[in-house]
Amino acid sequence: MCGIVGYIGPRDATPIILNGLKRLEYRGYDSAGLAVLTERGVQLRRAVGKLHRLQALVEAQPLSGHVGIGHTRWATHGEPSQRNAHPHVSDRGQVVVVHNGIVENFLALRDELAAEGAHFRSETDSEVIAHLIERFLSRETGLVEAVRQTLQLLEGSNAVVVMSALEPDKIVAARLGNAGGIVVGLGEDEMLVASDLPAILEHTRRVAFLEPRQMVVVQRDAVHLMDLDGNPQPLQPTVVPWDPVAAEKGEYRHFMQKEIHEQVRGLTDTIAGRVDFEGGKIYLDTLNLTPELARRVRKIFITACGTAYHAGLVGKTLLERIARVPVEVMVASEFRYADPLVGPDDVVLAISQSGETADTLAAMEEGRRKGATLWSIVNAIGSQAMRIAQGYISMQVGPEIGVASTKAYTAPLVDLYMLAVLLGDLRGTLPAAERRRLVADLRLVPYLVSQVLEREEEVIAVARQLKDVRSCLYIGRGINMATAYEGALKLKEISYIHAEGYPAGEMKHGPIALLDEETPVIALAPRDPWYEKMVSQVEQAKARGAPVVAVVTEGDTLIPPLADAVLWVPPTPWLLSPVVTVVPLQMLAYHIAAMRGLDVDQPRNLAKSVTVE
Ligand code: F6R
Repeated sequence: MCGIVGYIGPRDATPIILNGLKRLEYRGYDSAGLAVLTERGVQLRRAVGKLHRLQALVEAQPLSGHVGIGHTRWATHGEPSQRNAHPHVSDRGQVVVVHNGIVENFLALRDELAAEGAHFRSETDSEVIAHLIERFLSRETGLVEAVRQTLQLLEGSNAVVVMSALEPDKIVAARLGNAGGIVVGLGEDEMLVASDLPAILEHTRRVAFLEPRQMVVVQRDAVHLMDLDGNPQPLQPTVVPWDPVAAEKGEYRHFMQKEIHEQVRGLTDTIAGRVDFEGGKIYLDTLNLTPELARRVRKIFITACGTAYHAGLVGKTLLERIARVPVEVMVASEFRYADPLVGPDDVVLAISQSGETADTLAAMEEGRRKGATLWSIVNAIGSQAMRIAQGYISMQVGPEIGVASTKAYTAPLVDLYMLAVLLGDLRGTLPAAERRRLVADLRLVPYLVSQVLEREEEVIAVARQLKDVRSCLYIGRGINMATAYEGALKLKEISYIHAEGYPAGEMKHGPIALLDEETPVIALAPRDPWYEKMVSQVEQAKARGAPVVAVVTEGDTLIPPLADAVLWVPPTPWLLSPVVTVVPLQMLAYHIAAMRGLDVDQPRNLAKSVTVE
């Protein structure tokens, strides 16, 4: 969704802000803008479309100064247009604002302000914030107090960043809820403010995150944190371990391709430091899982959205088979309103790459309200889902920039596997010999994934055959049913080809009617306990004339003669097979979308972190 960058310091703010916005492009946007405090007062540049348009505008009409704020907008109120793009300026030009989230009571506020004579130049909800601040601003009140008073009036989940020519020595930022975080980058004699880490990592790794209902006054050499009543709060900076190079494309054409290939390293880092191969033990320290809690857990509710939800489906099989704990998996947007039967002896486990997904955070809140223990598996360090949980597992995969999630899918699969082993051990439901075998199997995972990646050319050949199809069915069973869902999601979101994932056994109950020569079936048929069932599913698809692409284990001799194309995966212990079988499907979706000439990293209508309901 929208991205925010602000800078105050000795350097020219314009290139720093433009560069920061570039690093937030992955979040999805349809217009962009920036405001800089120049010698001639605040100057604004805004443009519809991608950032190169704003860049061209800035080249044609340069602006430079030492304080500035910028924004990439994902339209909610009002079409993508120059006048709806941020920043927004108040009537007398004293206040400049960028905003993420939705001001839910903006209609009432706008009517009130208009009745007082304010002139609205955009259709956005955000513009009311600039007018309100100006209404409160006077020599006595000052900018900080005017912002604080304005924030009291805003309903909804918002992040706001403000500057004013009247007080050029500061930027004021606030976070009102879960829609979009605010992170302050603490540099040497300079400070940055942003919605997300990648915008500031190349300048500093010392950062402080705002909690909901906190605001911050950022000056070149000082940062003052406070709550919305103006009470000072302690600033707790952390040092982010992410390498800024991880947010560069490098030799790859797209971030998605790079991130698919990064899975070998990501999985190695996921396992490193958490597994004692000699003792056959798992350590997940940040989860705060005591033996007492492990024994007490009645049920685990996994809640997540999209790809993370698919990881949760695999997690159910892992936790139930390995630890023998009952698990329910629910899409977070449903969980939050379902009045689920969650109690104090249950765990609500959220899975989220961004850790800022509004529905997932709301589901966690629902779990907390019902007294459950809250856990999360999260990638974005310091994100809300990490902070509100009582225990978390951090994915060790570095920033994921491509909108289509890849490395943040395979890492939580391994995290869930390790969690299942640890829980089984602490609950006494997993015999020691079995535990040692399961732990030993983990060592293989990065290598197995690397073997699949080496077969990229074969995937490209299949992508060439499929790139013009109109519709595809992905089928799988058991632990690889979720792989079918995930493969279909990957294809549809970046190639815009219609794709459905189905439990293979359900085909005969309806979807088989769709099959013909033009509707390929992608069959997940590795050597797992459901293999024999999948052989007959492939036969049934062929009998209806559908072309079949089968994902099969090396050495398979039954399915390849039936299939039109084969994607090979190495022999893998079945509980870990989803980590491996999804990789050819990620590459397939990627290459099909790239061959269709599409914007793989920023597919239409999608945002990387979905901070609105
Ligand atoms: C698909 C995709 C989305 C996300 C979903 C949840 O490739 O990326 O389906 O998985 O929006 O996002 P997070 O994990 O950030 O909560």
